[in-house]
Amino acid sequence: MADIGTDIARAAEMLQNGELVAIPTETVYGLAGNGLSAEAIAKIYSTKGRPGHNPLILHISGSEKVQLYASEFPPEARQLAGAFWPGPLTLVLPKLDIVPDAATGGLDTVALRVPAHPLTLSLLNLLPFPLAAPSANLSNQVSPVTPAHVEEQLGEKIGYILDGGRCDRGIESAIVSFASGKPELLRLGSLSREDIEQVIGPIEFKGKSGAVHAPGMMKKHYSPQTPLLLVDHWKEFSDFGEDRVGLLCLRTPSGGQSFEKIYALSEAGDLAEAAHNLYTALVEMDKMGLDVIVAEKMPERGLGNSVNDRLERAAG
Ligand code: TXA
Ligand code: MG
Repeated sequence: MADIGTDIARAAEMLQNGELVAIPTETVYGLAGNGLSAEAIAKIYSTKGRPGHNPLILHISGSEKVQLYASEFPPEARQLAGAFWPGPLTLVLPKLDIVPDAATGGLDTVALRVPAHPLTLSLLNLLPFPLAAPSANLSNQVSPVTPAHVEEQLGEKIGYILDGGRCDRGIESAIVSFASGKPELLRLGSLSREDIEQVIGPIEFKGKSGAVHAPGMMKKHYSPQTPLLLVDHWKEFSDFGEDRVGLLCLRTPSGGQSFEKIYALSEAGDLAEAAHNLYTALVEMDKMGLDVIVAEKMPERGLGNSVNDRLERAAG
């Protein structure tokens, strides 16, 4: 059992001692350690069971810290930071030597983000180093959006969970890389592609191509234990036989009574609310002993595309 509380001084002391602490952000909870310490970073990988080539995001308190860790901060990256930080945007920039190779999986770039959560921003302001923090789940499982979700997956392995309540946004940050000079979108997230394009114009999306630019784009990820089937319309899956089937959808459909459980992500059809509820829905449905979860695709606009991306990976 990890302790759960709001004591940032205690969290800071543990982090200074090289220990790990789960931290709240507006997207999902992170499993944080000293981002400049190879030992703390090694603990993050072993605690999550994460492959060492999958790099981590360094969380910083403000954009003035970028120059400490990145050798370049191109104009379009500055524009994005100005528009969205603190917030659910991660920028991949050429790294400085101070960033350990262990944090970047040996890449010559570093991922940086200013999270929009008051507790975590206060914590960062107490620390003389950035916080390396992947999502606080076991590798490939559903990302946690409450302290209880963190406790279920990592409670035996960490000492403290900083309780910032339930995450507002509910899915991870969008990742924009400047590794090649021109901006590329590596991961859809709590910012939509449309949000990003309003600031810097059309951007190439690399997350769907074969090459793994961001290993979070690996095909099987964000997965519940229950098999998940992604469909365009729930009626495609109406022959249940003996199976206990759950439906995950935007709004409760009429005529879906034979499902064991229907989980509507937003009866109002609000895609931000759907993103907010997605991982909680997966966690709760996973506990119901269902044989299969049928998930109906969200409308293909804005955050609907981000939710669909996570559902595709959950389906594997
Ligand atoms: O919202 C978020 O981004 C959350 C919260 C805790 O901040 N963090 C998160 O971390 O989702 P993680 O480790 O689960 O996902 C980070 C993604 C991975 O897909 C990783 O491959 C990619 O960022 N990444 C990190 N550094 C990279 C780099 N230098 N180049 C390309 N991708 C990178
Ligand atoms: Mg993750």
